Amino acid sequence: MPSFIGSIDQGTTSSRFLIFDSKGALIAYHQIEFVQYYPNPGWIEHDPVDILDSVYECIEKGLKKFIEKGYSVSDIKAIGVTNQRETTIVWDKTTGKHLCNAIVWCDARTHHIVHDLNSKHGTNALKEICGLPISTYFSAVKLKWLIENVPTVKEAHEKETMVFGNVDTWLIYNLTGGIDGGLHITDVTNASRTMLMDIKTLEWSDELLKFFGIKKCILPKICSSSEVYGNIKITSLVGIPIAGDLGDQHSAMVGQKCFQRGEVKNTYGTGCFMLFNTGTEPVISKSGLLTTVGYKFGNEETVYALEGSIAVAGSAIKWVRDNLGIINETNEINQLAASVNDTGGVYFVTAFSGLFAPYWRDDARGCIVGITQYTNKCHIARATLEAACFQTRAILDAMNTDSGHPITSLKVDGGMTNSDVCMQIQADILGIDVDRPAMKETTALGAAIAAGFAVGVWKSFSDLNEVNSHDRTIFSPQMSKEESEQKYKTWQKAIERSLDWA
Ligand code: G3P
Repeated sequence: MPSFIGSIDQGTTSSRFLIFDSKGALIAYHQIEFVQYYPNPGWIEHDPVDILDSVYECIEKGLKKFIEKGYSVSDIKAIGVTNQRETTIVWDKTTGKHLCNAIVWCDARTHHIVHDLNSKHGTNALKEICGLPISTYFSAVKLKWLIENVPTVKEAHEKETMVFGNVDTWLIYNLTGGIDGGLHITDVTNASRTMLMDIKTLEWSDELLKFFGIKKCILPKICSSSEVYGNIKITSLVGIPIAGDLGDQHSAMVGQKCFQRGEVKNTYGTGCFMLFNTGTEPVISKSGLLTTVGYKFGNEETVYALEGSIAVAGSAIKWVRDNLGIINETNEINQLAASVNDTGGVYFVTAFSGLFAPYWRDDARGCIVGITQYTNKCHIARATLEAACFQTRAILDAMNTDSGHPITSLKVDGGMTNSDVCMQIQADILGIDVDRPAMKETTALGAAIAAGFAVGVWKSFSDLNEVNSHDRTIFSPQMSKEESEQKYKTWQKAIERSLDWA
């Protein structure tokens, strides 16, 4: 009897449902983009119902393709959930209705709160407890903003009639029945991004809750990333257990099989996120990186990671398409970038809502420098790709400093890695090999692996030897070290301009 695992991958701009076989091969999938709301400069919201509807539609259409291939829904043994992290949703626990739109992870409306907290306590005041700097990025400040600024949320918090969740929690609650007994849970990886969990005990921290003025009773129960949480009660997946839950970057780490200490992956999605497996102890960064939970499978030991987060990567390409209008489709940027040998001295710091790691400056702003009469759209296109690659270099340097062991090869995945020109630029800028898998859906695969482990499709990591191992492409550096260093030095000058702007 063949065994299949389903994966719900709910990202910043689109939702997907994917079905993998026990060798990790992708059998069927469906993807839908959904609306982004920008009500004020720096604000980004999602309608939680749009998120649910897009997921349900992906499930039905993905299953249809699966059935057309001759399989049956009962061949699917479990479902994993992976999600955009930190995005904050609050809903009424009696009606199950959301109280307002979700505040998305890269929304910068909380910068005044963050500025005040940082001036009073210092950016790293809570780092020893939760592994994170105080930043607009994490859920706790978004939740604090909602409680202080939206009267219905304030009242519901006071009266304890609301609950909070990230996107994983919202999906699992609704899929398992909503007001009719839906589970209110999250996993350790998602909880580690709220800024409310103690990174060592993996429990909600009373000290952090007091710091942000948030009641514990509104928070979900923290579970492992791989266990049977409960059965699905709606859609055509009724009766199938949800058995995996990981934030998308942690899921990509599992999908890339970074199970050994020292292994590292970089995912180029809306943003770009590098995670470095640090083993079973949390390591507090001295170089501006985040300490986060890598994954926790059932009762196995927790595996931690250091993370370097870049807020803008793929979203810069969308900006070039939608706001500059120099391309019609996002992948056209690759042809433009490949049509020139370099950027003609142009550097584009894509700090649209500040800079995340290793700078943590929400007042930084985007800039394009080095423009001359010679500059054309091809140079701007290439500089857009280079921006994610240079920021990745800053994070790799920070990881090398923190770990003391230089990284010699980088596993990559995500939309931008489809571009050979971008991956060659990345190898040139890093001076190390860049290793790209043939199977592009690494993030979804990670959640499927977590779910498959919980229901016994795989029993040990060695069962995954065949999974995501074949047809990898290696991009090796072709630029001289001197030239690469020179370019990186000039990039750092552009970063100074971006930081100076405030
Ligand atoms: O922390 C935000 C991250 O989870 C979003 O991922 O893939 O939408 O860029 P992505």
